[in-house]
Amino acid sequence: MVFQPIHEEEQVFVDYAIELVKKAGTLVRTAFDSPESKVDTKSSNTDLVTETDQAVEKLLIEGLSERFKGHRFIGEESVAGGAKIEWTDAPTWIIDPIDGTTNFVHRIPMIAICVGLAIKKQIRAGIVYNPITNELYLAQLGKGAFKNGFPIRASKNQFIAESVLILQLGSIRSPVMQKSFVDSYKTVMFDKQCHGHRSFGSAAINMVMVAQGSCDGYVEYGIHAWDVAAPSIIVTEAGGVVTDPTGSPFDVMSRKVLCAGTAELGRDLSACLTHVDFEPEA
Ligand code: IPD
Ligand code: CA
Repeated sequence: MVFQPIHEEEQVFVDYAIELVKKAGTLVRTAFDSPESKVDTKSSNTDLVTETDQAVEKLLIEGLSERFKGHRFIGEESVAGGAKIEWTDAPTWIIDPIDGTTNFVHRIPMIAICVGLAIKKQIRAGIVYNPITNELYLAQLGKGAFKNGFPIRASKNQFIAESVLILQLGSIRSPVMQKSFVDSYKTVMFDKQCHGHRSFGSAAINMVMVAQGSCDGYVEYGIHAWDVAAPSIIVTEAGGVVTDPTGSPFDVMSRKVLCAGTAELGRDLSACLTHVDFEPEA
């Protein structure tokens, strides 16, 4: 597929967002290296937020909205603060200021600033930046996927038995989630004997690991649009697939995701899962 802008200024939007993400990265890196900051909880004891999450989201939304009038925003901390998710045809920035807040709080350097751009409800661009390791992933529809400017490719592996798979349990610890996670884990690790299991504690890092071919597949239930919007296009532009865990088409608002290097592996992985349903967030 060749890049075709559907908005005449699309490239300007993306270039400016990259500038802001790098600025936000300095803020995150400074906070990461500083003595611990105040940590609050949101929906539960396992759902964390810090002043840095809020400061980064403010920087990104203020910067983008000053420059691009009429653009909309779906940001993790704004929604936590009561903002309604409005999913319209307008250019919409889907923002996770720090994906992997638990890692950030525990000073585990697997975190990402995520900025996705949707126009007419189609994800057109994704930026995922780990300011600690200084890895910036970027994809635009039809332009390929890159890490620090170099092209990346998902793995071509079709077989679970030859895969490193990421099954991530997020902050929702209900009995249904427990059953889904434990049953799926048993199937891929014990019955199917995959090479190994990893989970990096950030949906975005999990997905770029698939995009760059380090891991072969990833599944998570209970994620939000801001966790997966930006990295989803990085996976598909790197040649991988992103679907619903059941195998049906991916819906960024559905609160679940499966991605894999190949469609064959994605299908086999889907068949191993104990599925969970969620109310879509929009
Ligand atoms: C979380 C991370 C985590 C995933 C959760 C997410 P946050 O985002 O991506 O890996 O398991 O589902 O909510 O809270 O760190 O921004
Ligand atoms: Ca997140």
